[in-house]
Amino acid sequence: MSALTEFYGEIAACQRCILSQARKNTVPGEGPEDAEIMFIGEGPGFHEDQQGRPFVGSAGHFLEELLEDIGLRREEVYICNVIKCRPPGNRDPLPEEIEACKPYLDRQIELISPRMIVTLGRFSTEQYFPGAKISHIHGQPRKVGGIIYYPMYHPAAALHQPKWRQVVREDMSKIPQVLAEADRIAEMELPQDAEQLSLF
Ligand code: URA
Repeated sequence: MSALTEFYGEIAACQRCILSQARKNTVPGEGPEDAEIMFIGEGPGFHEDQQGRPFVGSAGHFLEELLEDIGLRREEVYICNVIKCRPPGNRDPLPEEIEACKPYLDRQIELISPRMIVTLGRFSTEQYFPGAKISHIHGQPRKVGGIIYYPMYHPAAALHQPKWRQVVREDMSKIPQVLAEADRIAEMELPQDAEQLSLF
């Protein structure tokens, strides 16, 4: 059994927060263990909970379309969420739910070891750019510990707000170039005692 499959089993048994009580399935994430790019969304919705797979609803279809625009299929990238269980009624995840799920996300990053992490929407962006506004930082890569972090608006927000659709397309279209020039992006210096990874 691969480390990733074993890890998915661990998530499936999780009862760290109340979201475990109402879920149909955990939605750990999917994609190749050696993916170069990792996309992190918010949390599972209805369809994701039903199927146990991330981004399978309308936001997922848009994400696939965006990937196609840069010559990628979803099978080639790793896709997951900040939280692995659906909040009732698709409400926003609570801070304690994000906190309870954080070790899973951290471990996932360790296992996949991506070159680039694309945060989709404010909840995943907040993990790596605390306090920053997506409207200020979207589409701007930051490199820390050899990983490029790249914040974007959430595809679902872009679906509902036509004005963001073009912005999302443009940010996505820059990804191949960001990766190609990855070696030239300067590492950000973080203070030794930084309590959390803040790229802002
Ligand atoms: N589907 C997901 O898996 N995550 C999101 O953030 C939105 C839709």
